[in-house]
Amino acid sequence: MLNVVTVNTNPYEGQKPGTSGLRKKVKVFLQENYTENFIQSILDANKDSIVGSTLVVGGDGRYLVKEVVHKIIKICGANGVAKLLIGQNGILSTPAVSCIIRKYKTLGGIVLTASHNPGGINNDFGIKFNCSNGGPAPDNTTNEIYSLTTHIKQYKIVPDLVCAVDQIGMQTFTVEDRQFVVEVIDPVQDYVDYMKEIFDFPKIKTLIQGSEQRPPFKMLIDCMSGVTGPYVKRIFISELGAPEGSVRRATPLEDFGGAHPDPNLTYAADLVTAVKNGDYDFGAAFDGDGDRNMIIGRDAFFVSPSDSLAVLAEHAQCVPYFARRGVRGLARSMPTAAAVDRVAAKHGKEMFEVPTGWKYFGNLMDAGRLSLCGEESFGTGSDHVREKDGVWAALAWLSVLATSGLSVQGTLEAHWAKYGRNYFTRYDYEECASDPCNEMMQALEKKITAPGFVGSSFSSGNKTYVVKLADNFSYMDPIDKSVAMKQGLRIIFEDGSRIVLRLSGTGSSGATVRLYIDSYEATEVRGDAQQMLRPLIEVALDISQLRQYTGRAAPTVIT
Ligand code: G6P
Ligand code: ZN
Repeated sequence: MLNVVTVNTNPYEGQKPGTSGLRKKVKVFLQENYTENFIQSILDANKDSIVGSTLVVGGDGRYLVKEVVHKIIKICGANGVAKLLIGQNGILSTPAVSCIIRKYKTLGGIVLTASHNPGGINNDFGIKFNCSNGGPAPDNTTNEIYSLTTHIKQYKIVPDLVCAVDQIGMQTFTVEDRQFVVEVIDPVQDYVDYMKEIFDFPKIKTLIQGSEQRPPFKMLIDCMSGVTGPYVKRIFISELGAPEGSVRRATPLEDFGGAHPDPNLTYAADLVTAVKNGDYDFGAAFDGDGDRNMIIGRDAFFVSPSDSLAVLAEHAQCVPYFARRGVRGLARSMPTAAAVDRVAAKHGKEMFEVPTGWKYFGNLMDAGRLSLCGEESFGTGSDHVREKDGVWAALAWLSVLATSGLSVQGTLEAHWAKYGRNYFTRYDYEECASDPCNEMMQALEKKITAPGFVGSSFSSGNKTYVVKLADNFSYMDPIDKSVAMKQGLRIIFEDGSRIVLRLSGTGSSGATVRLYIDSYEATEVRGDAQQMLRPLIEVALDISQLRQYTGRAAPTVIT
């Protein structure tokens, strides 16, 4: 029999979950009781249902995941959790956690990841709680967790509980008078089974392997040394018959090989170069925990995430899951370009605009009003789970291409010809000093909400923009009526063009400023986004005084 020990502890400041859980430098988590405090607070926030519950635990394989898995096992065992489902060696992609929570109807799950942030001892770690719907905990739960961390006095642990997380199977422990079960599961199996239900694997296999009508479709998938490696190998190579060389960086590494595991043109530049120089029809990259995706076509033709969502919405019937169930509403986050809005209008679907953060889609999905959604931050997904899902997005794209026979570029061009194009770009200014950024946001809010701003005009190049609306975006959830305030400054012009400015909620130090530009063209659809958007970018930099406040002449990342 194992004993529960109650340990006295003191609160740490700043254990406030951001857009996606608590994200800090590894060294912060290594402080005495820092991690224990947060885990106990998660369990305490669920105190009415924790005894006898089942939780899912897994992460993206980064530095500290294994150690924290062991801590979670010991603390859950002490708090009366009946069972944990843990991915072998602590590995589970974020969408897989969501899938498993839903499939086995567990109380929730704990996801160990800092997503697309770099890993390793000098970089980031994170802990996120997901609820029984499989999605990130809503604000009221994360606020409750935070509040508990500010006055925690004790946590409970079973110090002598030793569990082999490398061995698949059931391990049963007796903790005082209770049974506590840890089931170590194959991280990939449930997810693969689900993808086979959602998609037509034989059809995608024919695309990849070629047929009498078509040569084999060549692709290159970059797992960026994150968690998706085992998923991608099983799905694309074993199930869909792609050649071994179709996958790169497919072994999860604790430090992602020193790379920044974020699938965009800057951090996945290797993939872009390989596809540009090689003979590939399709390229995809996923982030550290497998929820983000980037899609490119032959010659590295880039699909912006906002366009990707619009295209998948337009062709949703190519995915058996949607063909069977139909498509309910569509949604995007506020800064995401409005391409999908046009698809929704055309198909008579309800359209939602939510704040940045996947958690805002969950209620709409649970209420049966939302099927497909996405964000400019390389997130695309559907109501099959309650997280965005990188591998799903790649499979959805292959389903569209297998049906139409078009190339990636051909698909986009056909889409723009039908709907016009929302040019989009995002400028990131990473790791700026926090104070001037906060001042900039305050000054800008004051400026754009002052009387006379609406109706004023700005000129740059040969364009003039007249302000139609300007505010700090707030959102009322149509289902539970909860309100999220101050979700980003937006300036909307008469022609529908938009400037959005917000501070990142996912960084672990300093401030990251994000500037988003969205501008619609009905007929001139083949231009270069940076060139087309130049005048509006200048207007944005001028109104915000961004260069002056941040001291940065140029952004760190452009997407
Ligand atoms: C995470 C969330 C996304 C969100 C993104 C925003 O990836 O899962 O839903 O769009 O963070 O990050 P930011 O750094 O802009 O707050
Ligand atoms: Zn992620």
